[in-house]
Amino acid sequence: MSRGRAEGSALRFDAVTAVYRPLPAAGRRGTEVPVLEELSFAVQEGSFTALVGPSGSGKSTILKLAAGILRPRAGRIEVCGAPPGTRPGEPLRASYMPQRDSLLPWRTLLENALLPLEMHGREAQALREARRRAEELLPVFGLEGKGDAYPAQLSGGERQRAAFLRTVMAGGRLLLLDEPFGALDALTRRQLQLWLAGLRRSLEATVLLVTHDVQEAALLADEVLVVAATPVRALERVPVRDRATAERRVLELLGLREAAPLEVGGA
Ligand SMILES: Nc1ncnc2c1ncn2[C@@H]1O[C@H](COP(=O)(O)OP(=O)(O)OP(=O)(O)O)[C@@H](O)[C@H]1O
Ligand SMILES: [Mg+2]
Repeated sequence: MSRGRAEGSALRFDAVTAVYRPLPAAGRRGTEVPVLEELSFAVQEGSFTALVGPSGSGKSTILKLAAGILRPRAGRIEVCGAPPGTRPGEPLRASYMPQRDSLLPWRTLLENALLPLEMHGREAQALREARRRAEELLPVFGLEGKGDAYPAQLSGGERQRAAFLRTVMAGGRLLLLDEPFGALDALTRRQLQLWLAGLRRSLEATVLLVTHDVQEAALLADEVLVVAATPVRALERVPVRDRATAERRVLELLGLREAAPLEVGGA
C-alpha cells in the first residue's frame, strides 16, 4: 500500500503487448523483439514505486509506453485516468526523465528546466511565473547559484539534479524516472539517493523510478516491482516494510541471492 494521499491508480497497464520492429541491419528476415506480453499492473496514486530488473529486460520500454513515446501493439494504458501523452496546451499528466540526462548544451540550467513547458505552448506570463518557481527551487535541488550555468559547467551530479528539476517543473502528477542516478559514481549516487529520500515527502507526486540498484529501490520506495523474465508477462510486487527483508526478496526474485555459506567441518 502507498503512504500516499489519494486513492486510485496514477498508472494502469491492462494486457499490454509491446514489440520493437527488427533493426534495419537484420533485413527483411529480421524478427520482431517482443518485450511485453499482455502485461497488467497498476501504480497507486501518491506512492513511490521502484521498477527493478536486469539490463535489457524492458524497464525503459515500460516508462516510454507510460510517457506516450512508444505505443503498445495491444492493450490499454491509462495515466491518471486518460491515455498517455498530452496535446499542446493540456496540463501534463506524466513527466518523464530519460535514462540519459539529455540537457541541451546550448541552454542554461534554467532554460533547460523550462523546456517542457515551452514545448507545450505555455504563454509568456506562465513561463515567467514558472521561471520564478524554478529559481525558488534551485536551492531545494542543490543548485543554488547555478541557474545561468550551461550543462558543460555542471558536475555529473548537478546535471542529474538539473534534469530532475526539469522533470518536476514539467508539472506532471506522475514522475517517470529512468535510472536518474545510474551514470554517477557510487559516492555521488549515494548522496543523491539520500537527498531524494529527504525530498520525496515534499514531492506532491506519484513516482515510478527505474533502477538496477536493489538497495536504492528499498531505500526510496514503498513498493518494488520486479521484472524477473523477458518478455515481461507479470511484475512481482514486493512491499517495502523493512529494507533488509525487501532487498532479500528482490534479490531472490532476480535469482541473485547468495548461497548460504558452506559449513566447513572442524578438525
Ligand atoms: N528501439 C529499439 N529497437 C529494437 N529493440 C529495442 C529498442 N529499444 C530497446 N530494444 C530492446 O528491447 C529490450 C528491452 O529494452 P529496454 O530499453 O526496455 O531495457 P531496460 O530494462 O531498460 O535495460 P537497461 O537496464 O539496460 O536500461 C532489449 O532487448 C533491447 O535491446
Ligand atoms: Mg533502460
